[in-house]
Amino acid sequence: MKLASTIQLVSSLASTSDPGVAAYDALRRLTTHSPVAVTGTLQPRKAPKKPSEHASGLITSAETRVESIVPLNAFPEDIIMAPETVFQADQRHLQIRNEPSLREALRFRSKAAHIIRDELCDKHDFIEIETPLLFKSTPEGAREFLVPTRVPGMAYALPQSPQQYKQIMMASGIPRYMQIAKCFRDEDLRADRQPEFTQVDLEMAFASGEDVMQIVESVVKRLSVEMLHQKDMPKAFPRMSYNEAMSKYGSDKPDLRLGSEIHRVEYMLPVDLIGKIGPLASPAVDVMKIPISEDPSATMVFVNTFMDSPEAQPFINNPHGQPGIFVIDSRKPLQGMQVFGFEAAEQVEELLSLEDGDLVVLQARPNAPFAGGSTPIGNLRLALHKAAVAQGLLSAPTGFAFTWITEFPLFSPTTDAEPGQGGSAGLASTHHPFTSPKTSADVDLLLTDPLSVVADHYDLVVNGVELGGGSRRIHKADMQKYVLQEILKISDERLGDFAHLLEALRAGCPPHAGLALGFDRLVAVMLGKESVRDVIAFPKTGRGEDAMVKSPTRMTEVQLETYHLRLRDSK
Ligand code: AMO
Repeated sequence: MKLASTIQLVSSLASTSDPGVAAYDALRRLTTHSPVAVTGTLQPRKAPKKPSEHASGLITSAETRVESIVPLNAFPEDIIMAPETVFQADQRHLQIRNEPSLREALRFRSKAAHIIRDELCDKHDFIEIETPLLFKSTPEGAREFLVPTRVPGMAYALPQSPQQYKQIMMASGIPRYMQIAKCFRDEDLRADRQPEFTQVDLEMAFASGEDVMQIVESVVKRLSVEMLHQKDMPKAFPRMSYNEAMSKYGSDKPDLRLGSEIHRVEYMLPVDLIGKIGPLASPAVDVMKIPISEDPSATMVFVNTFMDSPEAQPFINNPHGQPGIFVIDSRKPLQGMQVFGFEAAEQVEELLSLEDGDLVVLQARPNAPFAGGSTPIGNLRLALHKAAVAQGLLSAPTGFAFTWITEFPLFSPTTDAEPGQGGSAGLASTHHPFTSPKTSADVDLLLTDPLSVVADHYDLVVNGVELGGGSRRIHKADMQKYVLQEILKISDERLGDFAHLLEALRAGCPPHAGLALGFDRLVAVMLGKESVRDVIAFPKTGRGEDAMVKSPTRMTEVQLETYHLRLRDSK
């Protein structure tokens, strides 16, 4: 019998000598939600003829004839808990207790972890190995959390991921490693980001990216079939290069369920139209359609409302020009696309198969290689779809559209948002500095044009969410040192922080490749949850705080002294 199940208690109240009578009295004196110990006899129960709402969730094949009920604790009367009560995050215990979906998510998570271990360790011979959480500060990419020690000036850092340890494992003769690992990143929080999160981390020796992708597909497919009863999983997940994803969907994690493919059309457009849509001299111009409604006036109301909303502000303030918005209306000249001119209007109509009520968006961008995770038109595609779904104009997308995104640039120009590796070259590794160039031609390009080097890196994407990322690694110490020292130009001191890894690679480390899936994201996507917080027992708030235990806490004078620390401006 499952612990979480509900069972009906029965007693005969016909005779006062029946122990059930005293039990019933004891029960009546208790507040609901109080824990009790029930003694009685389990007996078969006739299933009700009609399943009532009251009986849902009840074990219908058995009931308990009660002999005694002993209260084990009391639920206080000052806490009001009805099914509709909404508890705040500082009462996480009551949230979890009162929301079956939260408990269900935790059960799902536990079962998923079990299947993952079974698939990787039992079926594919991976070894589960725990790696230290007290690690050291290394400029891998994200901002870290430091853990000061009692030795003056000395600190550990919590790992952003077990990346370096798992690579050292490959040099240690471990053929296949896996871990359901805790990771820590001090980054800006969003619905799909927590400062403390869990990865399904794996690494394989003598393996290529292809081997890793196959293994990961086997895990994800098994979870989909066993946990979600998905049928018709594709034999292999489709693949798309970074450039294709950015040009067709304006995102390196496209939601393929939305349609609305983006097309590049500046070659079709009259020069004066290009001049009108933005300040760039020779821009690339993208176009997409979203079939909002068959009624042009409904589409017009929708888009006007959207453009007046705060969500539209970043698109209106785009320094490369505002989006050009058109609503297809066959009652108007050139269907509402007069500014395109006859020829371009016809070409765009054919390209997009336009129909009445379609929303057409035109957007200029610099005519340069793609960088970063999205383009303004890609973000607008998502924002318009979301608004149209919220207003019931489009139906919410369903199902799971998995795809691999490959051939990312190995390096990107540094931005203020990400610390990168802190080198002085103005470059940061797109993924992390251990990813290998894809081909020998890419290795040659390291010398001449690092920004055009393609990485042997693959991301697994589903429904617009980056579920996981991995790569084939640099497995030779001299190449790794060259990338860190000569390409990223990190300081000698920071290079020294990687000495352990360089030493491990130098000791005849075999070629290896791996990947990490975001476990919280995986569970959230599978359960259709908006935020990873809904699948984590004790998540942090948007401010990085645990509202229940109230962490982090201000350091006391004694703690500061213990760790030989002094605050610069302590209030
Ligand atoms: P990466 O940084 O791409 O790769 O992380 C892998 C996956 O972890 C998840 N993830 C997060 N989930 C919740 N909150 C966060 N703050 C967060 N950050 C990342 C994402 C992401 O795809 N060591 C490499 C993996 C490798 O190369 O093998 C790594 O960590 O789902």
